[in-house]
Formats: sequence, structure tokens, C-alpha cells
Amino acid sequence: MQPTRIAFAAACALLALGSSSAFAAAPDWGKVPARKITAFYPGTSPMEWITKGTEHGGARALRKGESCASCHDEETADMGKKMATGQKLEPAPIKGKAAAIPVNVQAAHDGTNLYLRFSWKQPAASGGDKMDKDNQVKLAFMLEDNKVPGANLSGCWETCHSDARTMPDAKDDKKTKYVKDGSLASGKFYDLLQWASKGGKHDGYVADKRVMDGGKALVEAKGEKKGDEWVVVFTRKLAGGGEGDVALAAGKTVNFGFAIHDDWAGGRYHHVSLGYSLGIDTKGDITAAKQ
Ligand code: HEC
Repeated sequence: MQPTRIAFAAACALLALGSSSAFAAAPDWGKVPARKITAFYPGTSPMEWITKGTEHGGARALRKGESCASCHDEETADMGKKMATGQKLEPAPIKGKAAAIPVNVQAAHDGTNLYLRFSWKQPAASGGDKMDKDNQVKLAFMLEDNKVPGANLSGCWETCHSDARTMPDAKDDKKTKYVKDGSLASGKFYDLLQWASKGGKHDGYVADKRVMDGGKALVEAKGEKKGDEWVVVFTRKLAGGGEGDVALAAGKTVNFGFAIHDDWAGGRYHHVSLGYSLGIDTKGDITAAKQ
């Protein structure tokens, strides 16, 4: 090759490199430690039940600042069994409903985007109806910026109420999850991002009601089933910038929780995590380190 042609080829290679790095480059997940979080079937255990001292053994300690995970992190699979079988807090048990789903959660960032990866083994199918006829599986996670009282202890539980649709005290079948006194203006809201197996994705929030879209942070939500394992990866702009987007930055810790609608489930018939902290370049239950 002529020297000029070599220079030209080298310039092209550089250009190619440059353009690919302008897109979101997935982290090397092999290098990111996984935190195992077992999501469990919660039945009807809204905040009203959780905080009622006469019914829930943890109510008093919770008021004193103990987190749900500090008591329950290791035993969620056993808890899920009680509700899935209808032994406790489930007036309408579904035969064969999985009690719990152990999920590996990984997080990383590259200075521009946060990457969150969830992987889990598909549980056996239940004998229930297809509530969501389009989606076999949906995964949603929420982020909260330390403004909703209690969210640092309970994760998403602050959005779960006994009068929401499909719950036992529901009076309005349009009433979704909400935060007490929640609003975008006060900062009392949860950022909500969802991936659905049919291909849909949403970037919304939960304040006085649930809004599924309006955010500008979600770049991509991709999921696939490899053998019997689901792998779902979210790419989310750290800065956010849209309605209901929590702004993330190095050094910041936010409250985190997630839910899986497994087995064509809809409404409250999901598996949920307890609350955990997500640290960006700082220690949390889950840490997103820069790659
Ligand atoms: C101080 C420890 C403690 C804390 C903190 C605590 N719990 Fe509990 N929780 C218990 C105990 C003990 C039980 C079992 C007996 C009962 O129902 O009171 C229980 C029961 C439950 C159950 C019913 C299933 C079962 O295993 O009986 C659910 C659901 C639950 N807790 C969720 C939560 C959530 C969500 C939070 C945080 C918002 C939380 N708990 C905080 C101690 C705790």
C-alpha cells in the first residue's frame, strides 16, 4: 500500500471507532459484580397493612428507621410462598404462581449513561389466565431521589396502597399507584422505567398518580430470553432532563426497587423487590461504577 493509502485507511479506522463510541457502548458485564435480589410475590400487602402495628410485626421498627431489607432481605422467598399460596394476604391466589424470582442485578455507567442489567431464570408457568395478553414478561424499576418520606427504607412500597385498582379496597378501577402528597414540583415522586417483552418501553413516573411516559432519560430497554434465562438491559441517560426524570451524577445515591410481571401478569399480580440503594460511583447496596 502507498503511504497515503495507509494513512487514509488508518483515518477511516479512527473515524469508525469515533462514531461507534458516540453511541451507547454496553459495559463489559463480565467485569461487573452482580447483587442477587430475590423479588417475591407480595399479594395484597400495601403500605396501610405494612404500617399497621396490629397486623405487621415490622411496623414499629419501620417507624424507628429500620428498613424492610434489614429484616427481610434473606427471607423473601419464604415470604412469597405465604402470599402465592393464599396462606396470607392474598384473597385470590393463582394456582402454581411462582413464590419468588431470584434476580441478578448489575449496574455500571460511562459518564453519560447508566446501564442496568437484570437476569433471571424463567419460573414455571402458573395455571392462571393471561391478564396481559401482549406481554409474557414486563420489568419495571423505580428511582427515588431521597425526597419521598420512607422511600429510603421501603423502596417502591410508598407507591403501593390499598385503594389502588385490583387491590381489595379499590373503589375506582382507574386508580393507579401513587405517592401520598406526591408531585413533580415538590420532588416527591418516583422515576419509573419499564421494559415489556413484546417490545414496548416506557419512561414515566409516579407522583399523585402513575404516568407511563414523558421522561427523556431512557435511551434503550432491550430484553431477550436465552434458553430459560431472561436478560434485560436498560440504558438511561444519567442527567435525565424530562418530566419525572431523577437526575443522577457521580457521588449520588438514590433509592431503588423493581418489579417483574411474570407469566402474563397484570396489575398487582407482580413480583417485587424490597428497597435498596443505588450508588453512582459511591457505595450502595448496588454500585454503578464507571467503566
Ligand atoms: C423489624 C423487622 C421488620 C421490618 C423493618 C419490616 N418487617 Fe415485614 N415482617 C416482619 C415480621 C416479624 C413479619 C412476620 C409476622 C407478621 O406478619 O407480623 C413480617 C411480615 C411481613 C410480610 C408478610 C409475609 C410474611 O412473611 O409474614 C410482608 C409482605 C412484609 N413483612 C413486608 C415488609 C415491608 C415491605 C417492609 C418495609 C416497608 C417490612 N416488612 C418491614 C418484620 C419486619
